[in-house]
Amino acid sequence: MPSCPPSPPDPVPDRDPASYRALVHPEGARYIEALDQRALPHAVVTARIADADTAALAIRRMWVRGAPLIGAVGAYGLALALDRDASDAALTKAHAALDATRPTAVNLRWALDRVRAAVARLPEPERADAAWREADAIRREDEAINHAIGTHGLALIRAIAARKGGPVNVMTHCNAGALATCGWGTATAPLFLAHTEGLALHVWVSETRPRLQGANLTAWEMGRRGVPHTLFADAAAALLMRCGDVDLILVGADRVAANGDVGNKIGTYGKALAARDNGVPFYVALPSPTLDPALASGDAIPIEARSPDEVLAVTGRDHYGHTTTVAIAPEGTRAINYAFDVTPARLVTGLVTERGIAAAERDALVAMFPERFG
Ligand code: MRU
Repeated sequence: MPSCPPSPPDPVPDRDPASYRALVHPEGARYIEALDQRALPHAVVTARIADADTAALAIRRMWVRGAPLIGAVGAYGLALALDRDASDAALTKAHAALDATRPTAVNLRWALDRVRAAVARLPEPERADAAWREADAIRREDEAINHAIGTHGLALIRAIAARKGGPVNVMTHCNAGALATCGWGTATAPLFLAHTEGLALHVWVSETRPRLQGANLTAWEMGRRGVPHTLFADAAAALLMRCGDVDLILVGADRVAANGDVGNKIGTYGKALAARDNGVPFYVALPSPTLDPALASGDAIPIEARSPDEVLAVTGRDHYGHTTTVAIAPEGTRAINYAFDVTPARLVTGLVTERGIAAAERDALVAMFPERFG
């Protein structure tokens, strides 16, 4: 197998200085390496992904997760498939197989369509190299987009800090961090930039049942970067807001409809309702690949229903340092496991994008991303 054509060196200004990366494409390699996030926070395990089936498995089983990262791994998955067979039939088959792994994050379809468009008119022998270049571009752009979101979100935090004087208390949900992206994270980018510039900051980390992305991943990232944070049970969110302990809510998104309705991790809608009831600003970090102009409203956002086992059992580390899974409900209990919900645009204070902050409404999104609305 020829080695990967040299992609231009990673000219990403404002690279995320973190000591960890969710995804790496080693220079010239015909594989990628991703952190297996199921092992976090108790172990840092890197998985090598060297074929399209493994890429699909990694997405479906959530070795990798988070909308932008799912998109990037999907793009590399298509490149890996074309390394094996660059025919039209193989391209179509691989696109469909990767697209079918998880339904809610629109970044996956966006990335797969982009790679397919980049290679479809090329002669077969040139397709795989072009796909690797496109996947690299998607990875680099994601990091740059997130940094830009960080700078616009930072302005929100600075404004509160100037008004408040004391630490700014920001609540987040799930993990929309560097682990969910190719650098900086979306909702976390403003937090990391605020911390780096020395702003007094405290982050409320929602555990995020059932898979605990907050407890396992966001708390880990905040710890690795030295950002003050406190973990809380999801159910405590409304009380914390009512007590005035929350100045701002910043969450990620998996798919935002043309009218500004937001699909994100289950539990986001409940936080938005409590935020409205308590006058807490509720912002959503929206990288433009997560925008789905084809959907008029959130009613059409596909909601993933995952295995009930994720609700019936919990995984953690025992006294001996072993990672183990234990049942938390009586044998035979019926369970349901919706992985995402939809927050209506009317509850969203603003969408923090790489081009600035937009109101959660169609006209504002069209004005900010005219090329996406055709
Ligand atoms: O099921 P997950 O872990 O993939 O869900 C992730 C989220 O809901 C994130 O908030 C979203 O993907 C944004 S990641 C920048």
